[in-house]
Amino acid sequence: MSRQLKLGAFLMATGHHVAAWRHPQVPANAGLDFAHYKRLAQIAEAAKFDALFVADSVAAPTQTIASRMARSDHFEPLTLLSALSAVTEHIGLIATATTSYNEPYHVARKFASLDHLSGGRAGWNLVTSDNAAEALNFGREEHIAHAERYSRAREFHQVVTGLWDSWEDDAFVRDKASGAYYDPAKLHVLDHVGEHFRVKGPLNVARSPQGQPVIVQAGSSETGRELAAQTAEVVFTAQTSLAGAQAFYADLKGRLTKYGRSADSLKIMPGVFVVVGQTEAEAQEKCETFQQLVEPEVGVALLGRMLGNFDLSKYPLDGPLPELPLTDSGQQSRQKLLTDLAGRENLTLAELGRRIAGGRGHYSLVGTPAQIADRLQAWFEQGAADGFNVLVPHLPGGLEDFTHGVVPELQRRGLFRTEYEGRTLRENLGLARPQNRFV
Ligand SMILES: Cc1cc2nc3c(=O)[nH]c(=O)nc-3n(C[C@H](O)[C@H](O)[C@H](O)COP(=O)(O)O)c2cc1C
Repeated sequence: MSRQLKLGAFLMATGHHVAAWRHPQVPANAGLDFAHYKRLAQIAEAAKFDALFVADSVAAPTQTIASRMARSDHFEPLTLLSALSAVTEHIGLIATATTSYNEPYHVARKFASLDHLSGGRAGWNLVTSDNAAEALNFGREEHIAHAERYSRAREFHQVVTGLWDSWEDDAFVRDKASGAYYDPAKLHVLDHVGEHFRVKGPLNVARSPQGQPVIVQAGSSETGRELAAQTAEVVFTAQTSLAGAQAFYADLKGRLTKYGRSADSLKIMPGVFVVVGQTEAEAQEKCETFQQLVEPEVGVALLGRMLGNFDLSKYPLDGPLPELPLTDSGQQSRQKLLTDLAGRENLTLAELGRRIAGGRGHYSLVGTPAQIADRLQAWFEQGAADGFNVLVPHLPGGLEDFTHGVVPELQRRGLFRTEYEGRTLRENLGLARPQNRFV
């Protein structure tokens, strides 16, 4: 069968548009409404999406302007996906968990549990935290510096994957007749001692259906790319143009050989923000409905956060983006993307805030299913993407627009599955099941 693209449904409470919660068709309490998420999961699974994807931050914003955004209350991702595992059968479940404010044993245990609960559908989006406020919830005055976060992340990954190999696949014999619960020869104690962690092991969860949950990584700076090349099986990235995405794709795939990896072992999935209409005019109009709801100060607050935790409230709304130092607490890749965009189009602060109010800088498409499919196909066929993480303005409506319009169009073109190929997330993504390192 010819190569097909992969799709993730990036869920975010009321939707990705910062003002979506104010739209008449959007349930404003969606962040803590399980019935809402259950419906989203079932819509995405019926459309054969590879996975649900949930971002995270372990802090709530406290600036006054945050009281005008729906970003302060939402489910913890692993808890949410564990519940969703019980009401879905095929779709992958990818949760974000930070390496900066967690311990590897906890993370290994929770994702292994989710993999068992779901019959092999778990994925871990490994991030180092781009929200400086998280530090204050974990006994620190300041966020861990960028380089240090990545150093910790690298070792964190080693420990987590090492713990996932604590047991060989058939270690637990549970033989009532002989009384052998497990085979001691198939237990491997990690005994990790490193710069950041000392972890003895073993994990108190048997090796999971996928061997190891899928490793997803988001972070596209130089250091982030190197970590991805070394560790990730899926990379989520923000890109604005075909040429930029092609360069990123070639760069990241090119780094794999030095780690003895094939190009196929890493799937690159840029985010794409989509507004779908029956006609292009209808799509534009729909998009404008959301844009009308954006207060300039809200757009600029979101912008400041995405630029790497800057307070831009003291700058004039109709002035240019001020010169900012390289962020050490946030996403360096996104800072560059947004700064380039402002310069290229000569946007004022308010205009830039408004521009990113929907997709936060991700590639944005507003149009008919055929127009959107054309662009996705071009990126997929021209070396820019192996698939996409789909962001929609509002939920559930935007996801229904995508699954009813764009998915069938992709299927007609033979670019997307009509049935799940496998049972596990790995099988559907076309990723190999990892060997146990101790065998
Ligand atoms: C597309 C994308 C999505 C991300 N999602 C999250 C997230 O949900 N939570 C989080 O703490 N960090 C997230 N990050 C940031 C990562 O934590 C990243 O490790 C860190 O900010 C450094 O990013 P950089 O390598 O681009 O500088 C994301 C980064 C990118 C590029």
